[in-house]
Amino acid sequence: MTDAEPRASEPDASGPAASGPAASRPRASGPDGSEPGGYLAEHVRTALAADPRAGELGVTVRIVGSRAFLCGDVSTPERRDAVAAVASELLAGYELHNDVTVTPVDGAPGRPAGAVRVAAVGDLHVGTDSAGRLRPHFERVGDEADLLLLAGDLTRVGDPEEAAVLVGELRGATVPVVAVLGNHDYHCGRERAVAGLLEDAGVRVLEGEAVVVGTPSGPVGVAGTKGFGGGFAGACGSDFGEPLMKAFVGHTREAAERLEEALAGLDAPVRIALLHYAPTDTTLHGERLEIYPFLGSYLLGEAVDRGGADVALHGHAHGGTEHGLTDGGTPVRNVAQPVLRRPYAVYCFTAAGEAGCNDGSALAVAR
Ligand SMILES: [Fe+2]
Ligand SMILES: [Fe+2]
Repeated sequence: MTDAEPRASEPDASGPAASGPAASRPRASGPDGSEPGGYLAEHVRTALAADPRAGELGVTVRIVGSRAFLCGDVSTPERRDAVAAVASELLAGYELHNDVTVTPVDGAPGRPAGAVRVAAVGDLHVGTDSAGRLRPHFERVGDEADLLLLAGDLTRVGDPEEAAVLVGELRGATVPVVAVLGNHDYHCGRERAVAGLLEDAGVRVLEGEAVVVGTPSGPVGVAGTKGFGGGFAGACGSDFGEPLMKAFVGHTREAAERLEEALAGLDAPVRIALLHYAPTDTTLHGERLEIYPFLGSYLLGEAVDRGGADVALHGHAHGGTEHGLTDGGTPVRNVAQPVLRRPYAVYCFTAAGEAGCNDGSALAVAR
């Protein structure tokens, strides 16, 4: 991890105290109140973890105007209802959207008929000494998924020798592999060589492009870009002032525009946006607020929404959280390997035309 790489932050000791039932804590402000949405969302998220009725650590709260979104997964329908009950006490006056998914703890939720299973992981940070570390997992991915997506930071410093090690590890995978590069893969200035080695091995590396991959469960569309930073609503850079600032924001804007165009052109029943940088701050909880502008951009989130993605997958935020969603309500998953704490996640999509394919509820964590 370099200085440029985000690190997990320490727990925020300065946040609002949250212990005991929600009713005993200070009441959150209403939608027209003075408390900024980000702070209120963090307050509710902390309360959901502390309240004995909910006790859920993995629920993300997003507030957009007068709407409040809950997402994440819990083990039972009762827990899902409890989360909504506690949140509604703290968010009086808000229009509450409960997108929390029920995933039984005793295993995968099962494979819906006609579903496509997509494995994803980012931030593998393969080095020249990594041979053998990933191959056993990649050898099993074909048993669990139809496709493997890699969300950037494939190498430690973008050395082609590191990419060659990753190619060796991926030889164990029996499913198609699609990837984007991350900032680490650019560090040596050899990103084209890194991408070339992967492409020669059959990995499709995307940068502002899309591909439709045929799988036994049906075609899957993937539009990919590394993306870049800039920040999120209320705390972001703009293309104003010095040329360097314009170039910074312009790089992100260009990536977002190409992503949206690639997504919109996809003709596939499942459409996935594959990124390295984050399209939302809802999957950054756990990182220091000060580095959010270096972790992603709202411009990418707008592209995901306008392009019609069913889900956006990203990495880069090693200390973030897995579940989130864009301002437009598109599900987002941070698949950075340090976040997943497992070799890869497997997400399940229902087949084309089924109800719920685009509302997030059909996207279930299968491992
Ligand atoms: Fe990384
Ligand atoms: Fe990164």
